[in-house]
Amino acid sequence: MGDSSQRTTDELREVVDEIRKEAGSRLAIMAHYYAPDEVVELADEVGDSLALAKKAAASTADAVLFCGVHFMLETADILMNAPEKLEARNGRRALVMAPDPTAGCPMADMIAFDQAIEWERQLATLVDVSEFTPITYVNSSAATKAFCGERDGAVCTSANAEKVVRDALRKRPKLLFMPDSRLGRTTCLALGFSHDEIAVWTPDVPLGGNEPEKLRRARAVLWDGYCPIHQKFSADVITEIRAKNPDAKFWVHPEAPREIVDLSDGYGSTTKLLQVVADAAPGSTLAIGTEWKLVDRMRRQNSDKTILYPGATPSVCEDMSKSTLEKVAIALRAWRDGEPINVVTTPDEIAASARKALASLL
Ligand code: 13P
Ligand code: SF4
Repeated sequence: MGDSSQRTTDELREVVDEIRKEAGSRLAIMAHYYAPDEVVELADEVGDSLALAKKAAASTADAVLFCGVHFMLETADILMNAPEKLEARNGRRALVMAPDPTAGCPMADMIAFDQAIEWERQLATLVDVSEFTPITYVNSSAATKAFCGERDGAVCTSANAEKVVRDALRKRPKLLFMPDSRLGRTTCLALGFSHDEIAVWTPDVPLGGNEPEKLRRARAVLWDGYCPIHQKFSADVITEIRAKNPDAKFWVHPEAPREIVDLSDGYGSTTKLLQVVADAAPGSTLAIGTEWKLVDRMRRQNSDKTILYPGATPSVCEDMSKSTLEKVAIALRAWRDGEPINVVTTPDEIAASARKALASLL
């Protein structure tokens, strides 16, 4: 870290401000809601995965410092460097840089391209796979998105999953959904599927652990990935909150297990959860089931409301926490000095196929 680790927060902010002033519209700083406060406060754009993907696609900046996790940067790189965008920049690539190159998403890593191919191969021994549209949650690698793009599939986020799945079902009657089985189930149920029509595919187990008949009947086959952070909510804590606060409303992110969604008054993306809190009447009590840093920020920004946490302990996404102010300053200085670090690039062939699937976000 060198001398910058000695700097105070104010000094680091000054470094960032100075570089931004000098760069003007050539630079944009983007942050997901789960990033630390110190970077959310200074970002040009703060949002959920869908909003940030759209902002990146529309950005005319030469460089984006993205305070999120790897799949978000890959998505931004693919969208910012689409052929027509490259042409407008006379062939110059937009740079998408991470404050910390190790910030990943454990759920995105739960399916690899080869596993998706093997999934399809095994299914093809039982069913007509051309009846299935592959849909990947945006929390996935570019290669997984490419798998979907090559098969006329799509990408969804927590904010548009129902729309994307509904559109897919107009084209083909069945779907493969990856890697989040929780979002997949909740979305399918919202669209009228029964639990019986949904199969869950356990990775690296023959037929995903299913009886052949279950797969022949299934209208949706879900890859069994999940977000570890959103599995930590507790039915007991929710029951206790409800017993003590009969008027409390409980809202949760759809990455939570279905049993927890079933106990809720509603679910939605981080933007939706923020909206629910903002719209609640002063004096009301809410329990919000999502990443702790965001819920804690909601609490501080809504002191006229009581915001409870439906878990026994705070569930923090440590990968999202890696985008510290200090690392932001280091990455920006490197970029200003002409030696950018932590640049995310996606090989052209993968990017081209992934871009087809990403069209569903734009
Ligand atoms: P959204 O902000 O898109 O709801 O997603 C939450 C999340 O887990 C991002 O990784
Ligand atoms: Fe991935 Fe969960 Fe962290 Fe989101 S909160 S980045 S889904 S591990």
